[in-house]
Amino acid sequence: MESSFWHKCWERNTLGFHQREVHPFLHQYFNQLALPTDQHVFVPLCGKSTDMAYLAQFMQVTGNELSEIACRDFFIDNNIPLERKRLGEFEHYSADQLSLYQGDFFKLSPELIGSVDWIYDRAALIALPEIMQQQYVDHLVHFFSSDTRLFLVTLEFPKTQLSGPPFAIDSADVSRLFSQFDVECIATNELSNKQFAQRTFEVDYLLERLYIITLKI
Ligand SMILES: C[S@@+](CC[C@H](N)C(=O)[O-])C[C@H]1O[C@@H](n2cnc3c(N)ncnc32)[C@H](O)[C@@H]1O
Repeated sequence: MESSFWHKCWERNTLGFHQREVHPFLHQYFNQLALPTDQHVFVPLCGKSTDMAYLAQFMQVTGNELSEIACRDFFIDNNIPLERKRLGEFEHYSADQLSLYQGDFFKLSPELIGSVDWIYDRAALIALPEIMQQQYVDHLVHFFSSDTRLFLVTLEFPKTQLSGPPFAIDSADVSRLFSQFDVECIATNELSNKQFAQRTFEVDYLLERLYIITLKI
């Protein structure tokens, strides 16, 4: 997906992927899985996700997002005063527990954001076409340490019934993309109303799955 596609979505406010409520998997599973010592979560391709405000109640949140509108609106929507400054190729927006780097994920270095206990991916991997998915995972691996856990939410539907984004990612895709990782699927939720955030799809089935993914030791 070209950057211009996403910039247009933000300029035209066509944000069908944006979920106004905190994702149910976060409520259901994150606190059970997080350790008291966990301090930092990274949210790649974060949009203006409400999930970041939820996560910031528990630990430092670092997001990365291409769109200036998304970064600005995240702080406005959540009524959080922010500081803004230029850091190399990135515009940096920060508040107490929140830090957003506006710019291209593929240019973001782990040194800039520091070590992370969690990576939270809801609608990041599935936003990318197949040709970019392995590139995304290959860059994401740089943000892992031996203790980092990826909280990955995927979407599954018959691939022939909808051209993305979002792109369907099934369990075989996850195993292939994350072949150097340990992968565990811990939850599946059938979206029987076929509704994904603000969009309704005409597909035979729509499933969200939650995977916890760690580096193979
Ligand atoms: C489908 S949206 C999901 C946003 C968010 N994760 C959520 O759950 O609402 C994908 C987001 O990725 C951003 N994006 C796409 N390519 C990117 C890139 N190369 N670097 C940083 N952000 C990117 C887009 O601007 C868009 O906001």
